[in-house]
Amino acid sequence: VKVWVLNGPNLNLLGNREPKIYGSGTLEELNEEIVNRGRQLGLAVQCYQSNHEGWLVDKIHAAAGEADCLIINPAAYSHYSIAIRDAVAAIAVPVIEVHLSNIAAREEFRHRSLITPVAAGQISGFGKRSYILALEAAKLMLIGS
Ligand code: DQA
Repeated sequence: VKVWVLNGPNLNLLGNREPKIYGSGTLEELNEEIVNRGRQLGLAVQCYQSNHEGWLVDKIHAAAGEADCLIINPAAYSHYSIAIRDAVAAIAVPVIEVHLSNIAAREEFRHRSLITPVAAGQISGFGKRSYILALEAAKLMLIGS
């Protein structure tokens, strides 16, 4: 069972970027944890990151036929990218939206995600554990309990 994890803009800076909000671990460390936990759950996980909207759209399209589930942190694009929302809506692969921070508890412009209405669900506010919870959700959806 294949799962792709896509991280959007500025998440390559994890560890240095506003650590009080996003934590002190790097993206590389996060990816390692995700891949290891995925393996324990019976999921083959591949992680990607891009700062570019079009690249993310292309990758979402490519997931059709390649991945059984997508876990996406669209980062700032969550709040305004109709292109990423439409890409998610266009594929049959289920998408789990994740955020490190609790976007509902932050600035008002972060409260709305354009992605949530077309996602299978959203997990927000648990730091790096948001991704681990998303893996658990993927496992339950794709393999069962
Ligand atoms: C984020 C929340 C977004 O509002 C922000 O633009 C990010 C990260 C999160 O994971 O908490 O870049 O998606």
